Amino acid sequence: MGSLVNMNLFGNIYEDKKVFITGHTGFKGSWLSLWLNQLNAKVTGYSLEPPTDPNHHELLNLNIDSNINDIRDLSSLTKALKKSRAEIVFHLAAQPLVKESYANPIFTYETNVIGTLNVLEACKNVPSVKAIVIITTDKCYENVEKEEGYKESDRLGGYDPYSSSKACAEILVSSYRSSYFNLNEFKKEHSTLVATARAGNIIGGGDWAKDRLIPDVIKSTINRQTTHIRNPYYVRPWQYVLDPLSGYLLLGWKLMEGKKEFACAWNFGPEEQDFKTVEQVVKNAQEHWSDIQYETPKTNIKFHETKILKLDCTKAKNNLKWQNITNFKETLGNTIRWYKNYYNSNQVESQNGLVSYVNIAIRRKAIWTLNN
Ligand SMILES: NC(=O)c1ccc[n+]([C@@H]2O[C@H](COP(=O)([O-])OP(=O)(O)OC[C@H]3O[C@@H](n4cnc5c(N)ncnc54)[C@H](O)[C@@H]3O)[C@@H](O)[C@H]2O)c1
Repeated sequence: MGSLVNMNLFGNIYEDKKVFITGHTGFKGSWLSLWLNQLNAKVTGYSLEPPTDPNHHELLNLNIDSNINDIRDLSSLTKALKKSRAEIVFHLAAQPLVKESYANPIFTYETNVIGTLNVLEACKNVPSVKAIVIITTDKCYENVEKEEGYKESDRLGGYDPYSSSKACAEILVSSYRSSYFNLNEFKKEHSTLVATARAGNIIGGGDWAKDRLIPDVIKSTINRQTTHIRNPYYVRPWQYVLDPLSGYLLLGWKLMEGKKEFACAWNFGPEEQDFKTVEQVVKNAQEHWSDIQYETPKTNIKFHETKILKLDCTKAKNNLKWQNITNFKETLGNTIRWYKNYYNSNQVESQNGLVSYVNIAIRRKAIWTLNN
């Protein structure tokens, strides 16, 4: 198995750094925990129990300090954060599913809005925290079904409870940035920088969430069933899980360095040519696993979803010098290979996947792999 030791990634900022991750038992949080663990960070996680069975968090079995608790509970959150003495917080805990948000709007808003409020409040009261990266979504924009990608300055909105809860979280962060983590008062009245990261339709191994495309396809395939595709022609910004995570870690690095121009909102999406329809994703997955069978719907969908969603990531590319490492084909290849290894050979290929991703990033001279 490979390792990331001595690779001097992210300017070595995470080496021995105390890092607090909410949502560490989830799909993206578990990959982020793995990456930080490999960078020799001291990780404390705070989340509810893993949301699925199986789940990537338990499969990885990382040596991190794991707190199983609710972000709606401010006092337990503050206590855990204080105890961790973390300098940087990545906030990923959320109810992240659109369909579930229609069924459970109160839990969705409480977790995504009040939960984010609690994270900000806890950070305000724990002086060790220097940097906060809040993960929202590409769905936080008011969707006007336009062809061009949404920019960070576009109007926020949200048709369904999930999307609007994330737009609320963005407004909350902006208010806290003005009121308590004001950039003009940085290093005078406070020493904390806060940014938000907007990405979407993340795919990769280890996701078993309900009503998500790849997990649905995988579950049907291992049960020898045909996957019923909900909206085959909808376009989404599909992205390999490690690409947006590299953006979050890069952003965290800049904030930790006290660079206040980075304390704002950032889009992390795929390249223009990788905005694909749902059907293109499943077709491509089938090329990697011939057992995958699917069919397109005969009836209309029962709940509203946006038809086209693209992100403009010029700001992250120009200012953070962030780049995607993985294209659409490689994303599907990596993802389907992970599940095949898991189901056919009982292997969890995440660490090897991470190491080979980093090696490709080094060859492609990703900014976070260079000596800065
Ligand atoms: N996966 C995607 O495609 C995607 C796209 C855009 C944004 N996001 C965002 O990224 C983040 C992570 O998403 P994911 O795909 O890993 O989701 P996930 O469902 O796999 O993980 C969610 C995590 O949040 C935790 N959680 C949920 N409610 C909680 C509560 N009340 N208190 C404490 N913990 C709670 C869960 O235990 C889990 O650890 C979320 O903020 C989500 O909105 C994900």
